[in-house]
Amino acid sequence: MKAGIIGTGHYAPEKVLTNADLEKIVDTSDEWIRTRTGIEERRIASDNEDTSDLAYMAACNALEEAGIKGEELDLILVATVTPDQSFPTVSCKLQDRLGATHAAAMDISAACAGFMYGLITAKQFIETGAYKYVLIIGADKLSKITDWTDRNTCVLFGDGAGAAVMGPVSEERGILSFELGSDGSGGKHLAEENNHIEMNGREVFKFAVRQMPESSVHVVEKAGYAKEDVDYLIPHQANIRIMEAARQRLGIPEDRLAVNVNKYGNTSAASIPIALSESVKNGKINDDNLIVLVGFGGGLTWGAVAIKW
Ligand code: ACO
Repeated sequence: MKAGIIGTGHYAPEKVLTNADLEKIVDTSDEWIRTRTGIEERRIASDNEDTSDLAYMAACNALEEAGIKGEELDLILVATVTPDQSFPTVSCKLQDRLGATHAAAMDISAACAGFMYGLITAKQFIETGAYKYVLIIGADKLSKITDWTDRNTCVLFGDGAGAAVMGPVSEERGILSFELGSDGSGGKHLAEENNHIEMNGREVFKFAVRQMPESSVHVVEKAGYAKEDVDYLIPHQANIRIMEAARQRLGIPEDRLAVNVNKYGNTSAASIPIALSESVKNGKINDDNLIVLVGFGGGLTWGAVAIKW
């Protein structure tokens, strides 16, 4: 029996920070941000809303969609690089708040690719029969580590959380193939230094624009399909130009690419599950569709999956 996604959820904080707002904080322009990244606005969590609060909201939404209660969960995985603190983990806080009395819990640190690492970890537990239901959440409050005086980075990021419940689905449906990778030699290009994000944008761009298209093609081929068979591509929402590169490499039309980077900016580990959840709720994903999720992030890390919905 293959492991598949049986419920999705997401949450974004209420406060909207527009490009026009940023023009008042740093030397930038709406035009620069839009044309270089595709971002128009992003959400910023309030002071009394931490990563675990964002994660909790997304988790409740996903459990409801899956029709699963907290106590039925066997494992909770939270992908984040901005936990409330190093311990107790965000996943343990959720275990308590969700009443997941039978669940193990751990956080995963793989930056923007963290949700992909979570999905694949969950798949192993489910397909060996060890666990039945696993909750995977990508949640980040990057505004905590954003340098609001650095125009190179502060215009790119936002806060949010997305979640998925996984369980055994069938022999034909679920996760068909995956790829995970890392390259620590590129770690210097995107790092947390002195509690702030430091980034060499051009190097990260070069890596991402090569890796996302390549990994997308790999998982489709491993699953035994042709590139054009992909019904919906859900890439990490960092920059519309990088996302477009992946779409073009697959050779699929524009309406098969999930885009919400304009509304949320780069929400790190939350970006793929937010886009997935919105796509499910907007009816973009239907039964038997071939879906590709693909992400990259600091580390450097990357990951992709092909899913038969
Ligand atoms: N407003 C105005 N000008 C700016 C801004 C800004 N916000 N930021 C940078 N500039 C300037 C730069 O200083 C540079 O000026 P210079 O040429 O005089 O030095 C100029 O704009 C052009 O910079 P480029 O690097 O050529 O711009 P580019 O087209 O590469 O776009 C960007 C920059 C958007 C950062 C791009 O490189 C990118 O998206 N990189 C990937 C970043 C990314 O995805 N990071 C997240 C990874 S995921 C994770 O783990 C969090």
